[in-house]
Amino acid sequence: MKVLAGIQPSGDLHIGNYFGSIKKIIDRQESDTVYAFIANYHAMTSVKDGPTLSKYTMQAATDFLSLGLNPDKTMFWVQSDVKEVLELYWILSQFTSMGLLERAHSYKDKVAKGLSANHSLFSYPVLMAADIILFDTEIVPVGKDQIQHVEMARDIAVKFNNEYGNTFHLPEHQVEAEVATVPGIDGAKMSKSYGNTINIFGEEKKIQKIIKKIVTDTTPLDEPKDFESCNIYALAKLFLDKNGLEAFEERYRTPGEGYGHFKLYLHDVMWEYFRPYREKREYYQNNQDEVRSILKMGADKARLIAQEKMEIIRSKTGITY
Ligand code: ADP
Ligand code: TRP
Repeated sequence: MKVLAGIQPSGDLHIGNYFGSIKKIIDRQESDTVYAFIANYHAMTSVKDGPTLSKYTMQAATDFLSLGLNPDKTMFWVQSDVKEVLELYWILSQFTSMGLLERAHSYKDKVAKGLSANHSLFSYPVLMAADIILFDTEIVPVGKDQIQHVEMARDIAVKFNNEYGNTFHLPEHQVEAEVATVPGIDGAKMSKSYGNTINIFGEEKKIQKIIKKIVTDTTPLDEPKDFESCNIYALAKLFLDKNGLEAFEERYRTPGEGYGHFKLYLHDVMWEYFRPYREKREYYQNNQDEVRSILKMGADKARLIAQEKMEIIRSKTGITY
């Protein structure tokens, strides 16, 4: 299967990004054709400062590689290094009704939160559709919030195919139920924009401090506690195997421990889980030129595929003479 993932370089990666998207990609490298890119054009809609966007782009690349992305297996590049996607974005705009874009939850949510509604925010799904269908992607693994965007890519591809004959493969989203929405420290969806994230890489003290802020109920120490409704448990679940999880559930049932203990445990489990990745990250941080050359190599490969596809599209649409 051809699997494609895009991640915006719009801040520090958090564990919602990891379980909702990054890990799914990394796990598929052995069995599928995986394409992964850093969506820096998309990130422009929220990161308005040049040096910051540039810094986040390198940081995202470094983090992806540290988390196990294997550039020998996976084509890995920065969106802006393959400009064909912008050309396709324009062409696809001809097949995108205003109504389709007006129905986008993500756009409506961002506007409701006070982001100014400029054209890039509105047409964001068209660029995302171009990212996806330019490479004849079959599967797009995403968190729940991105399902509608993948469906829109499909709708746009259908419209194009109807007009010009079968050109694009129709992509499908893939969401795993148990990680569809990783909760943040307040129990709402973990998201940079809600300020409720636990970052993958960060100073240990800071992570400890954030974990301490996880919202719980007020069941006293000497009473059994309900793990099903507990945010600490929901997060620990992502890191523990079956036995680990059962042992943790037993601690909830047994009076004597409080949420403070469970938070310490969550920290330890999480810190251990990411230990090997932290070590790899240190290597890549000290070798940023190697990261740049990996991205360049990926972009060269992606461009070849993109150019070949664009030739067909230009010819069908008459953007040729
Ligand atoms: P944020 O909401 O923090 O801005 P992004 O929108 O950049 O995160 O998301 C990047 C990827 O991570 C997307 O595929 C998205 O679906 C996934 N993702 C983000 N937050 C979560 C979450 N809380 N649970 C599951 N997946 C998530
Ligand atoms: N919109 C996606 C997000 O916020 C990022 C993205 C851009 C993407 N282009 C993509 C994801 C193509 C998958 C495929 O997470």
